[in-house]
Amino acid sequence: MDKNYWIEYYKKNLAPHEPSQFALDMRERLEKGKSLFELGCGNGRDSIFFGKNGLNVTAIDQAQNAIEELNQKYEYIEFLVDDFVESLLYKQREFDYVYSRFTLHAITKSEQNKVFNNAYHCLKNDGQLLIEVRSTKDLIYGLGQKVGEHEYIYENHYRRFVDKAELEEELTTTGFKIIMSEEDKGFAPIRDQDPILLRIVAQK
Ligand SMILES: C[S@@+](CC[C@H](N)C(=O)[O-])C[C@H]1O[C@@H](n2cnc3c(N)ncnc32)[C@H](O)[C@@H]1O
Repeated sequence: MDKNYWIEYYKKNLAPHEPSQFALDMRERLEKGKSLFELGCGNGRDSIFFGKNGLNVTAIDQAQNAIEELNQKYEYIEFLVDDFVESLLYKQREFDYVYSRFTLHAITKSEQNKVFNNAYHCLKNDGQLLIEVRSTKDLIYGLGQKVGEHEYIYENHYRRFVDKAELEEELTTTGFKIIMSEEDKGFAPIRDQDPILLRIVAQK
């Protein structure tokens, strides 16, 4: 969904290159030498950071131009063009961590359900799924054209805002144990915006 939007976005090279605050805050949870699978890595800023910090990183995104550029520069990270809803890697590999930042709001609720089942399947026992996503309390919630429950098209861009209790319940139903759950602003201020976000860490 919105693939062309992202391809055009990465062509303009406007995305920040420094690691996200979420990646910085999660770093101490992540053990060096373990494997991390990033879903929707974009320009790779968090994967590069995790790779530099001793994790074995596999990262996928649908935006071919972003991945091609990353593959020319970073040999120590496995960057692949792939769909994080349907990726075969979930069945072929196992990981210590699955990392999803600002990606769940790009997909529908039923696709999210697939992602959770897939992530659970590919995680090792005690492995963790780390999520940061826009919450239903976001100030831009409700702007634009409503296309479904918590789903809006605003400025030509689809977003599905995520309800904290619903997310927790879905993760628990999938089999995960929630070990961290926060909803707040101050997590990712950018220009004049400070969105309310959800941060969840769920363990297999
Ligand atoms: C808001 S960006 C976040 C990028 C990165 N995680 C970050 O925090 O900077 C969302 C990314 O998810 C990717 N994406 C959305 N749906 C996808 C899908 N089904 N499969 C693979 N990538 C997808 C987009 O191409 C885009 O790069």
